[in-house]
Amino acid sequence: MKLYVDTADLGEARRAAELGFVDGITTNPSLVARQRTALEPLVRELAAILDGDVWCQVVSADAPAMVAEARAMHGWAANVVVKLPMSLEGLRAAARLADTGVRTNMTLVYSVPQALLAAKAGVAWISPYVGRMEDTGISGANVIGEMVDALAAQGLPTRVLVASVRGPRHLAQLARRGVGGFTMPLEVLLGLVGHPMTDRGQEQFLADWERAVFDGRSQGATEATTDQTGRVDA
Ligand code: G3P
Repeated sequence: MKLYVDTADLGEARRAAELGFVDGITTNPSLVARQRTALEPLVRELAAILDGDVWCQVVSADAPAMVAEARAMHGWAANVVVKLPMSLEGLRAAARLADTGVRTNMTLVYSVPQALLAAKAGVAWISPYVGRMEDTGISGANVIGEMVDALAAQGLPTRVLVASVRGPRHLAQLARRGVGGFTMPLEVLLGLVGHPMTDRGQEQFLADWERAVFDGRSQGATEATTDQTGRVDA
């Protein structure tokens, strides 16, 4: 399972890289626009921060221009994955880039037929947007599960990267449906770490430990010592 952070912010990218278990960074034109900086130097810098993939989306309207953009992005860094929008032109661009060494993702995929067409055009990944599906009343988990099943049933190697992930429920629903990974904002990823029972359990463990150390000291009189782990050697 791949895990990406959805950001174009360099500070967030560094924090994501430092976690040690994030596979890369996904961006989109909206996220890049917020940075108020040119795309190429930003992508080069993101690619230098992480060993993993940096996903970067084309903004041209027609296939030849998308292909040219994609080739240029591929030249910026070896770890760039090019995102193409789901459209006739995006599909044509994907087909032209297949087998050229440029890794591609088709983004904004909302239906099983779109997923199948993208796979036929040769993209490595498709990105359905689970949160935005649910915003419109579509069951994201069901539709994305159907995409995974359809790709597998047809023997198509294209993998599904779930985007627009907004909380733990999306991972719980979709990780078991065979998706290839998830991308989400850093704050959403960090929000997956905690659980009230985890916190309460750890507090209890440490309280019990401290009590044992205290009791050991009082019982063992002056010889009682603790090693670096806090264990009592009396
Ligand atoms: O990459 C897509 C993602 O940024 C969309 O997330 O929560 O705005 O639907 P959201």
